[in-house]
Amino acid sequence: MTLRLLKPLACLALLAALAAGPSAPVTASDGVSKHVTRRITLMTTQKAAMDVLTAMMAGRAVFDQSKARAARRQLITSTSSIRKHFRKHRMDPRSHARPQIWTSWDDFEARAKSAEIAARALSTRSLPALRRTLPGLMQGCLSCHETYRRTPNSFTTH
Ligand code: HEC
Repeated sequence: MTLRLLKPLACLALLAALAAGPSAPVTASDGVSKHVTRRITLMTTQKAAMDVLTAMMAGRAVFDQSKARAARRQLITSTSSIRKHFRKHRMDPRSHARPQIWTSWDDFEARAKSAEIAARALSTRSLPALRRTLPGLMQGCLSCHETYRRTPNSFTTH
């Protein structure tokens, strides 16, 4: 009788323990972290700037030097702050960041730095110059996503 009652109880306790999982990173109590919001905003802003440039590169938009320059400046600013936005291990249900970011921090930083160098190397002097230099930055975005972002999807990068 007691044994029959104990078994399901033990099962429940085990299930609860499993659901809790291994010790989790800092997660906001309401389930949404402002740090995650900030880094996602940073990434979507970068994507918007990339969209301006890729549209010109693909001929979907007319080459406009002042717009291209503004996008380049924006990309330099945003790529140079990736490191700051990811420094602390913060997670929430919206995030696609892989935990390896924080276990391979030096490599993550190096990739952020390469993206910044590629952003600085963008040339907005002419359309051919933009065409020549933009792929380097696209590669910088992609190479980090492949390693440090779940559900890597090249279409959301450029
Ligand atoms: C050093 C690594 C790194 C570099 C470089 C990088 N990203 Fe990201 N990106 C990430 C990580 C990690 C995430 C997932 C963040 C999360 O969900 O918490 C992400 C997410 C994104 C997202 C999805 C945001 C969302 O809505 O969830 C977009 C869009 C994006 N990045 C665009 C770019 C673009 C464009 C570039 C290049 C200019 C770039 N990223 C460069 C690491 C990087």
